[in-house]
Amino acid sequence: METTYVMVKPDGVQRGLVGEIIGRFEQKGLKLVGLKAMVPSEEIARAHYAVHSERPFFPGLIKFVTSGPVVCMAWAGRDAISVARNLIGPTNGREAAPGTIRGDYGMDIGYNMIHGSDAPETAEFELGLWFPEGVMDWNQTISQWFYE
Ligand code: RTP
Ligand code: MG
Repeated sequence: METTYVMVKPDGVQRGLVGEIIGRFEQKGLKLVGLKAMVPSEEIARAHYAVHSERPFFPGLIKFVTSGPVVCMAWAGRDAISVARNLIGPTNGREAAPGTIRGDYGMDIGYNMIHGSDAPETAEFELGLWFPEGVMDWNQTISQWFYE
């Protein structure tokens, strides 16, 4: 079992896509183990995107991510990191396949509505950053019908 960090970015919240996005993760069979909303501080945004700090788009990315509320989520399941990335789709919405969140709703590389951890190490780092209080441990009874 893996847990991944997923975040609806300010454009997704502004566009009213929070319910739609959460629904996709629920329908897929992932288990919701963390959920909250906040307007990110510059400090947390910079830490989250520290790997991109030298990239030309970094200042704009920080301005964007701190511009309004984001919805922070932790989703658990078998191979949850890659399952979530596949639901999300490639970075650029214009190139993302229909059926993915970015492919169905996005036209841009920067305004791409949603973030998902890309590896076990980044998931651990991002969950600790956004959920320092920890995530929920609960028994999802329906999960017996998602895994043979
Ligand atoms: P994310 O980290 O947000 O899940 O997205 P990702 O893995 O698909 O993309 P990544 O390469 O990690 O880039 C992080 C975020 O930076 C913005 N970006 N803008 N203007 C640009 O050229 C550019 N490139 C990346 C996007 O918001 C991207 O999700
Ligand atoms: Mg990334």
